[in-house]
Amino acid sequence: MGFEKNILCIGAGYVGGPTMAMIAYKCPQYKVLVVDIDKDKIKAWNSASLPIFEPGLDEIVTKSRGRNLFFSTEIEKGIEESEIIFVSVNTPTKTFGQGAGRAADLQYWEKTAREILAHSKDSKVVVEKSTLPVRTASAMERILNENSAGMHFEVVSNPEFLAEGTAIRDLENPDRVLIGSRETPEGIKARKAVAEIYLNWVPKKKIIESNVWSSELSKLTANAFLAQRISSINSISALCEKTEADVDEVANAIGMDSRIGPKFLKSSVGFGGSCFKKDILNLVYICESYGLDKAARYWESVVEINDWQQNRFVQNMLSNMFNTVAGKRIAIFGFAFKADTGDTRESPAIYVAQGLLEEHAEVVITDPKALENAKKDLKPFKQGVTFQADPYKAAKGAHAVAVLTEWDVYRTLDYKRIFNSMVQPAFLFDGRNILDHKKLFDMGFNVFAIGKAPLKHF
Ligand code: NAD
Ligand code: UDX
Repeated sequence: MGFEKNILCIGAGYVGGPTMAMIAYKCPQYKVLVVDIDKDKIKAWNSASLPIFEPGLDEIVTKSRGRNLFFSTEIEKGIEESEIIFVSVNTPTKTFGQGAGRAADLQYWEKTAREILAHSKDSKVVVEKSTLPVRTASAMERILNENSAGMHFEVVSNPEFLAEGTAIRDLENPDRVLIGSRETPEGIKARKAVAEIYLNWVPKKKIIESNVWSSELSKLTANAFLAQRISSINSISALCEKTEADVDEVANAIGMDSRIGPKFLKSSVGFGGSCFKKDILNLVYICESYGLDKAARYWESVVEINDWQQNRFVQNMLSNMFNTVAGKRIAIFGFAFKADTGDTRESPAIYVAQGLLEEHAEVVITDPKALENAKKDLKPFKQGVTFQADPYKAAKGAHAVAVLTEWDVYRTLDYKRIFNSMVQPAFLFDGRNILDHKKLFDMGFNVFAIGKAPLKHF
């Protein structure tokens, strides 16, 4: 059977995998091929044990894989056969040279562009799915269209707004799909070709079109605004701890103002994940490169508040546990950067665990899905850290429990049993404000929550 369209995605990570699985699931008339240089990852995508944990992902992959969804390492063949190429490779923060620590490292992206050029035999639409600095499309078009074969490549920006843990829901019912292109006849045609894919399941009014630069910049801006809300409420959480105001009550009160809205006002140990920090630092770098120093400093402060919040959490633990955690067993409940994912990239738990290990604590990590990644993240620490799947066993003999990921399972544990198995006085630090603090205090715990007055028995 012939397919209506041949779609290729380069990069089979947290974005490429789920996004393409959704397209294949919703559009059986298209052939969707996802390629990656990482052989193990492709092997996992073709197995019963997918390389990432995401609720609902297994089901849509299983339904489409082998029918119209394929995972492979044959990048060259994939390029040759496809008309539309999504590029979803990683764009991490640069660690070297000019812009180190802030600018986006575009080496993977540029390598992909050169590969597309090398293996194409005809014109194609290339879609920026990765998050990229504004004006990247211009550089890409220059590389791609520098050919003597008469091929024309139109670069379209279609940033991805999915959040991990809810990726399938977000992809199935997105708030919007943004597609930006040049405003030339070829650009508009390419933009329409991409829109046609989404129109198979996304209502037309949710598909918005813009110029390519607006689209690129909207992605960085969306992440910066979301992270800014978290840093804003986290800055207020510190003030709440000093004044006996309760940050959840403040968030509720301001969130009911329809101009502010209730989402992304949950105070926490800090935001993590592979996107927020990286994208804001990239925005800072771009502002600086245009001489917009004030704007750069403004956005940089969002990251600074986040670092401060994570540090404050560790300092709170230390000062409340009599200024020493050396030799004390401390159970960390949750290592993923948020619930419902096994991803630990930039997780605040990494920072907190490191801080405690530097103070010579005996740290025990438990997490329902992220233990393997936690082991990799804490590999440099040869001593003082252990990993335990069972939270009851992790807490046994501990001086303190620190909740760092809002996994549902931690809301319903038998905390009386946990309390009885711990060294007294027992401390509980709730970095996500998901537990019933008054109840825990009544059981005997000394409870320290974000943005709330401490509940202590001494
Ligand atoms: P990832 O690291 O999970 O996946 C990227 C994949 O690209 C890797 O598997 C890597 O092996 C592959 N790759 C790199 N160079 C390649 C090449 N030349 N050929 C083939 N494959 C190559 O990254 P991710 O989390 O999926 O993010 C991808 C992009 O999407 C980033 O720009 C990110 O900012 C953006 N994004 C991520 C999220 C998220 O929630 N993770 C959400 C929205 C946007
Ligand atoms: C984010 C964006 O939400 C998404 O649109 C983009 O495509 C990728 O980056 P993600 O990082 O996967 O998604 O998760 P998100 O739900 O945004 O959470 C990021 C971090 O902020 C997590 O550590 C989360 O726990 C934290 N957070 C979120 C808070 O601390 N408080 C909140 O109110 C919301």
